[in-house]
Amino acid sequence: MSMGKRFMHWVDARFPATETYEYHMSKYYAPKNFNFWYFFGVLSMVVLANQLVTGIWLTMMFNPSAEGAFASVEYIMRDVQGGWLIRYMHSTGASAFFVVVYLHMFRALLYGSYKKPRELVWLIGMGIYLCLMAEGFFGYLLPWGNMSFWGAQVILNLPAAIPVIGDALGEWIKGDYIISGITLNRFFALHVVAIPLILVGLVFVHLVALHHVGSNNPDGIDIKRLKDKNGVPLDGVAFHPYYTVHDMVGIVVFFMVFFSVVFFFPEGGGYFLEPPNFEAANPLKTPPHIAPVWYYTPFYAMLRATPSMFGSALPGVLVMGGAIAILFVLPWLDRSPVRSIRYKGWMSHVALTIFVISFLVLGYLGATPASDLSTIIARVCTILYFLFFILMPFYTSIETCKQPPERVTGGHH
Ligand code: HEM
Repeated sequence: MSMGKRFMHWVDARFPATETYEYHMSKYYAPKNFNFWYFFGVLSMVVLANQLVTGIWLTMMFNPSAEGAFASVEYIMRDVQGGWLIRYMHSTGASAFFVVVYLHMFRALLYGSYKKPRELVWLIGMGIYLCLMAEGFFGYLLPWGNMSFWGAQVILNLPAAIPVIGDALGEWIKGDYIISGITLNRFFALHVVAIPLILVGLVFVHLVALHHVGSNNPDGIDIKRLKDKNGVPLDGVAFHPYYTVHDMVGIVVFFMVFFSVVFFFPEGGGYFLEPPNFEAANPLKTPPHIAPVWYYTPFYAMLRATPSMFGSALPGVLVMGGAIAILFVLPWLDRSPVRSIRYKGWMSHVALTIFVISFLVLGYLGATPASDLSTIIARVCTILYFLFFILMPFYTSIETCKQPPERVTGGHH
């Protein structure tokens, strides 16, 4: 027996290394008809790794104090060798994270991946999404630019809308009466240690849960129903080497796009890095138009479009919170006998199309200054967003679906 084999025997007797590798890679049979939409899970992992590595390096040079934060970012950009690259990979990575995660979530909507038996995969995914939102918010305050300050000002004023405990809660979160170096310090701790730990833990259980039930696919049919004499699904292929090699293509293409932005377009037209953030935080100078980064704008548009009640922003906060909360119950709203949109009826097609358009329009409106007309459009889109979910139990149970095929279609492997 070779040295390598003997070593693995030794390890396997003490730790399930080969067993784990086979369970998750070489004997994990994934449907052979994965398409474009299935790249975004692995791409989320790639971006996560990028954020962790570049984040560790930024932390080495960043100064988490109100006096030093802005200058330390300038120092990273101008004086640290390759500092500009690390910083732009991290700031572009933040936007890239949301691009790939939104597409990843959209795939779940398309193919009903949230439906039984993958409800937990979806719920854990929602936990990840909440963590990502928190991570982005905490990180955005760190460079201590003027938009960091004023963006945080808007969001940290929201708890005040909660009756009775609101003001105290707001102060408790800030650690001060105003947003100060104390707030910056705790956001740093949360951004660099607490949330990443939770995020990595959640991604781990996300994959454990997925591999326990098996991946869904664009046809939404169960590939475990038809197996060969060795117990291998007829429509499955081993994750390694087939999908590891296949995913490399997606990763290379992704890197081409990602680094084009990092090298030539790092501000993303003011959407990835916003103009007011090129000057230091100034409590005496409100930016003319405060808007969050693009990935929060659909929810921000809902907040802004909801009328206040007795001068309180509580209804807006509830609508915004409800828009995210309703995603958690999605697996129990969809009553369709089929998973994939390919076999659902026309009502599901229309509903999903209207939902996506409303979400995009809200995203656009949230990034632009409000007007009377845009407020009305935002209200209509907010209602349509909620109707997609609220009406789902009805349209998915009354529409006529197509009969899904026995075997998956369109697998080219
Ligand atoms: C850091 C963020 C995330 C990472 C690294 C991640 C990773 C992955 C990976 C590698 C897969 C398997 C490959 C694939 O199906 O594309 C997967 C599947 C899945 N993810 Fe995520 N994910 C993340 C966030 C989310 C979020 C936010 C949701 C939804 C709220 C979600 C829901 C799902 C679902 C439903 C599946 C099963 C898809 C299927 O089998 O069709 N994920 N995820």
